Amino acid sequence: MTARIIDGKAIAQEVRAEWKVRADALKVRGITPGLAVIIVGEDPASKVYVANKVKACAELGLHSEHIVLPADTAESVLLAKITELNHDPKIHGILVQLPVPRHIDSSKVLNAISPDKDVDGFHPENVGALVTGNMRFAPCTPFGAMKLLEKSGVTIEGKHAVIVGRSNIVGKPMALMLLQANATVTVCTSKTVDLAKFTRDADILVVATGRPKMITGDMIKPGAAVIDVGINRLPDGKLCGDVDFDSAKGVAGWITPVPGGVGPMTITMLVANTVQAAERGAK
Ligand code: GUN
Repeated sequence: MTARIIDGKAIAQEVRAEWKVRADALKVRGITPGLAVIIVGEDPASKVYVANKVKACAELGLHSEHIVLPADTAESVLLAKITELNHDPKIHGILVQLPVPRHIDSSKVLNAISPDKDVDGFHPENVGALVTGNMRFAPCTPFGAMKLLEKSGVTIEGKHAVIVGRSNIVGKPMALMLLQANATVTVCTSKTVDLAKFTRDADILVVATGRPKMITGDMIKPGAAVIDVGINRLPDGKLCGDVDFDSAKGVAGWITPVPGGVGPMTITMLVANTVQAAERGAK
């Protein structure tokens, strides 16, 4: 079997066009959806992600503010900036790029963002809403992965979904979204004994571990839908996922490439959440 390649770039364009219609409808009413993205420090990967987020907003005609703070910014200064943005009527969504430097308590930061502007869906109130099946803001990466499955025509209901990685940003919310869509869900971690036993049973396999090419073709069920959330830079400078694409593509039914799979969708869903926040504020 040769897997169908899930083209994240093309699907992202399609989904962005859908949200542009909604953003334009708000503009007619005099409301321009606005996103503030804060980055603290100089992490090169984070800088690229943040620049791409701001660029995507501009492409859809959204207002965006790119706030760059030095690595030694005091926690109190960051919290004061968030409070200011919470009260700024031009801003409908606030995102603080993670990770933040070690002297800053990330949970304090996430708690400080107004739940109504929490386009990452990381505030405890929004996490609770996701757990209880009343999702308000879907965390962008798992939201994007769900859209890729939906747009590719992958059936979720009744299927066994296995997630490798249990981060708050991807693994845990992904598990909850798949559960809400009536999948049977297994979450594995780096400590799982006989990981391949679980991955080989997956109809839908989502991998988010940050370990380059750790899932190989022999660990995949023939015909499975494989969503690779990893993005790793190899010593030769090339990017690769957490799945060994070359061996996996001969076994899987569907697979996302890296780059060009989940990445463009994460940014698209951030734009979607910002437009949604502005729509709710306009009611
Ligand atoms: N760092 C890696 N992924 C994300 C994300 O989705 N949101 C934020 N705020 N930081 C991240």
